[in-house]
Amino acid sequence: MSLKVGIQAVLMSAALAAGFGAPEVQAQAKFSDYVQTQNKFEHKHIDDADVLVFLVPELAEAGIELPQMWDAATRRMIKAALDLEGFNGEQGQQVELLALPGFYAKRLWVVGTGESLSRAQAEELGAGLAAQLSDTTESVVVHAKGYSEQQIASMAHGMDLRNYRFDKYKSEPPARPDYRVHWHGDNGDAAAMAYQQTRPLAHGMFVARDIINLPGGDGYPQAIAELAQKAVSNYDIKATVYTPEQVKEMGMGALYGVSAGSVHKSYLLVVEYHGGGDEAPLALVGKGNTFDTGGYNLKTSGSSIVRMQTDKAGGAAVLGAVMALAGKQSDVNVAGVVPLSHNLISETATLPGDVLVAGDGTHIEVVNTDAEGRLILADGIWFARDKLNARAIADIATLTGSKVGAVGRDYSAVFSEHDELLEAMKDAGETTEELVWQLPLGPYKGIIDSWLADVQNVGSPGAQAGARFLQHFAKDTPWIHIDMAGNAYSTSANGIHPAGGNGYGVRLLTEWVERVNSSD
Ligand code: BES
Ligand code: MN
Ligand code: ZN
Repeated sequence: MSLKVGIQAVLMSAALAAGFGAPEVQAQAKFSDYVQTQNKFEHKHIDDADVLVFLVPELAEAGIELPQMWDAATRRMIKAALDLEGFNGEQGQQVELLALPGFYAKRLWVVGTGESLSRAQAEELGAGLAAQLSDTTESVVVHAKGYSEQQIASMAHGMDLRNYRFDKYKSEPPARPDYRVHWHGDNGDAAAMAYQQTRPLAHGMFVARDIINLPGGDGYPQAIAELAQKAVSNYDIKATVYTPEQVKEMGMGALYGVSAGSVHKSYLLVVEYHGGGDEAPLALVGKGNTFDTGGYNLKTSGSSIVRMQTDKAGGAAVLGAVMALAGKQSDVNVAGVVPLSHNLISETATLPGDVLVAGDGTHIEVVNTDAEGRLILADGIWFARDKLNARAIADIATLTGSKVGAVGRDYSAVFSEHDELLEAMKDAGETTEELVWQLPLGPYKGIIDSWLADVQNVGSPGAQAGARFLQHFAKDTPWIHIDMAGNAYSTSANGIHPAGGNGYGVRLLTEWVERVNSSD
């Protein structure tokens, strides 16, 4: 009898720990936890493939050149089919031939790559191939003679990015892709090395997507901090988690205040990678509001509150970028600072009109509890400046609906008074095709003045008020702000992104850090 009770008690506490059957938030410390496909770059003769992808640049007068190894009749058949389809090697063209007699692949895809193939285009092309491969595919050969190692690596990387699945919440997850891809280029070893360099970036994006996708009930501040610690455990990264008590103790009242109404109080996550010399780090500060109800300024329409678990996407991007930089062993010192909050209501929540005291001593009149992102970032930026001595700061946040109105969801909005940081961001945006558009900070000084306290947390125009507010906490440390509201989430699969959290910002920040670092 007592034994039975004992066992029940044990089972009970296990169930409690696991949150009564809710899927456990799992550590995904390895790349192979995410993607099961394998890329092979060594030259090996394959005599049985499900798909052969034959890449063709824009055709010259002489027309297409097919490998002499293929028998003459097959070559004639393929050429006739390509002529019928008007194939000329333009990017985006694809002709499929099925069950060619005696041919070693069941399907032949002849794919045009155009006159030149940029990094982003190569990634897109790889993703497009991944999207077309069926569940039963086991083996793929990509004939990529004449393409650079970098292009081949980018295509493989694009496939990996598209093959990410968030299936923790499916009772019967569909099988994940687990085929082998044999890349036949000119130099297998060099391609393998270039591909290896893309994996930390992909891993960083996968972790970022996981974080964005986690629902607000499971992905609260402490859970995200722990997930992050596990995610970086195989990297040369120092992760520090400040508990709510420490956040309060250190005086970060703005960060603390946003979670005051939730049982899930605010945390501060700091991830540091030291790959450079003695110089001060570049700091990335990302908004990690794990759910945004608006607080007492409640989001009252279904469409405004739904998916507000994605309000931690800026923080997710920062973590992913630091992972990518560490994994690539970039020669930079970088610190990621992620304030984590849960903007809920209860009798202990911050009220509209309350005054919070930030880490730097600024008294903030909280005119609107729904402008919470800038409150937690204020303390994140202060931490980066005052505690980490950052030599420059980039913050990134799903900050304002006003930004979505101004530039939509395909661009993020960037604000800065530092040309060098701005130029590096614009260039990074072009390289990664994570597009940015500059908005003026310009004449909007004074828009966050408060009669009651030092500053207030809202003003007009909305996106500028957010930026001006954050600038106050950066003081004279070179600073740039990225408002990525609306960019974090893809409603349907597109290019390198499956549906859901897309990891916007990971690539942009990684590229930006490398550019700023190499220019000074
Ligand atoms: N997280 C939201 C911004 C947002 C809106 C992100 C839509 C993604 C899609 C932010 O915290 C917010 O609520 N901003 C308010 C600020 C306002 C109260 C000054 C907004 O933009 O409406
Ligand atoms: Mn809000
Ligand atoms: Zn928010």
